[in-house]
Amino acid sequence: MVTRADIGVIGGSGFYSLLDDAEEIELSTPYGSPSDVVTVGRIGARSVAFIPRHGRNHRFPPHRIPYRANLWALRSLGVRQVLAPSAVGSLRAEYGPGTLVIPDQLVDRTSGRVQTYYDTDGAVHVSFADPYCPSGRAVAVRSARAGAWETVDGGTLVVIEGPRFSTRAESQWFASNGWSIVGMTGHPEAILARELALCYTSLSLVTDHDAGVESGQGVTHDEVLKFFAQNVARMRTLVTETVQALPEERGCPCPTALHGIDRPFELP
Ligand code: ADE
Repeated sequence: MVTRADIGVIGGSGFYSLLDDAEEIELSTPYGSPSDVVTVGRIGARSVAFIPRHGRNHRFPPHRIPYRANLWALRSLGVRQVLAPSAVGSLRAEYGPGTLVIPDQLVDRTSGRVQTYYDTDGAVHVSFADPYCPSGRAVAVRSARAGAWETVDGGTLVVIEGPRFSTRAESQWFASNGWSIVGMTGHPEAILARELALCYTSLSLVTDHDAGVESGQGVTHDEVLKFFAQNVARMRTLVTETVQALPEERGCPCPTALHGIDRPFELP
């Protein structure tokens, strides 16, 4: 394969036009096809591969996204660092719509999603105490603040199975545990990235107050889509700035995620 990229972006379809000299590549992986063709191009001096997480026309709901194929496809193009913009609900009154959160922890409340490449014979346990790349997080926080974006550095993202939103009781319970934001796609994306020794950074845009912190009717899908669309320009700027500020050589622990593990397959 000739076309290569070193940074991957998994996000909404608003990111296509970020890439210069863009080329579309149809890829298949041992885990099936990714959500869509992968668009590879440049942002400044960096080569970037983009996958629209939900596919064209938003055809994959969160629980049916081909997460394994998406990460595998990126890695097979040479990607080593992944930026993951997404919409989330806020579990705290003080994080209103428009706040950017760069979480440093994750709680998995999904069920029934395949969340490993190691579902063959033999047990492989990859460390996941700190699910996000510390260096990617720091760069993203700096880039956002340089653009005067109100940014929360750290916090816990709860990932629910969806596609329904949380009940008020669930949401209040999440908040009472001290968790900050809630979404539907951050898992298993983060662990699959780790199993491929990729750096993974979540760029979480608060689109709504979740049911537990809201006195009204709770969130609707329309509300989320509308708010995300209104903020897509800001998110594009953040991705552009972060991509260009990411280090070319990785000094974080992510590349060593598989050290000491007798892995049953060769990484792409
Ligand atoms: N994505 C955006 N808002 C959300 C919410 N309140 N719950 C889960 N996922 C979301």
